[in-house]
Amino acid sequence: MSVTAIDPTRSVSDRLEATGTSNALELRGVSKYFGALAALQDITLSVRPGERRAVLGSNGAGKTTLFNCITGDFLPTHGSVRFFGEDVTEFAAHERIRRGLRRTYQISLLFTGLSVLDNIYLACCGVSRNRFSFLRPRRNDALMATAEDLVRVVHLEDIKNTKVSALAYGQQRQLEIAMALSGAPRFILFDEPAAGLSPTERSELIEILTGLPGHMGYIIIEHDMDVALRVSEQVSMMHNGRIFKEGKPAEIEEDPEVQALYLGGGHD
Ligand SMILES: Nc1ncnc2c1ncn2[C@@H]1O[C@H](COP(=O)(O)OP(=O)(O)OP(=O)(O)O)[C@@H](O)[C@H]1O
Ligand SMILES: [Mg+2]
Repeated sequence: MSVTAIDPTRSVSDRLEATGTSNALELRGVSKYFGALAALQDITLSVRPGERRAVLGSNGAGKTTLFNCITGDFLPTHGSVRFFGEDVTEFAAHERIRRGLRRTYQISLLFTGLSVLDNIYLACCGVSRNRFSFLRPRRNDALMATAEDLVRVVHLEDIKNTKVSALAYGQQRQLEIAMALSGAPRFILFDEPAAGLSPTERSELIEILTGLPGHMGYIIIEHDMDVALRVSEQVSMMHNGRIFKEGKPAEIEEDPEVQALYLGGGHD
């Protein structure tokens, strides 16, 4: 199967022309059942390239399941997922990664015995074209230069040689973002990146997310309304496996139904 090469130097409109679509992500009628439990029900969602979207909802609303269906960790029970115009519903996760989709996890997945820079370097190696080689492994200077760039993007340059096990929790989350940025993705899914962060670390996170290149769209799942509304331009509200409302951050904040369900104690 041929894969369209992703050239990060090309403009988004050029790339759209190449892929012939107007949406980065398009979900149509996606449902996911675990036995009798409907974790997702008839989800329809369109996200433009470069768009920053927040998905909010109470515990168990189906947010992470939605991510898993987009990334290929789960096969939807019904419905389809398109990524930049291509139907990827049945593609394996690594095939979606090759097309420029990345994610971070709700639970940390880092090499704690290695340095910050080495973790990012390994992530860059993992998504590079030459990752499978029978030759003796050698350091790839171009990938190391990319890792050095990414360490700056997430504000960790001062501690780039520190072992991950010695990092503060918030710094580990920043490192995960750098790893998700490896290989110049077109779209990223962030699963609760602000969970457990201090107020200072939250501000740092907001700065990092709002400072990402404009063409790099994302969806952020977030319980912290303040973070979510500051880093997104569009919000989708989920409850019981359904998206029940979409709107701009200010509209969502003012919405009585949202306030009743989510802000007013619906969120446990
Ligand atoms: N692998 C699985 N097997 C069975 N049930 C699952 C599985 N993953 C999720 N669920 C169930 O699906 C529903 C949605 O879960 P999901 O993790 O998507 O919620 P969430 O919105 O991410 O919640 P949280 O805010 O707590 O992270 C829950 O009832 C959950 O128990
Ligand atoms: Mg979740």
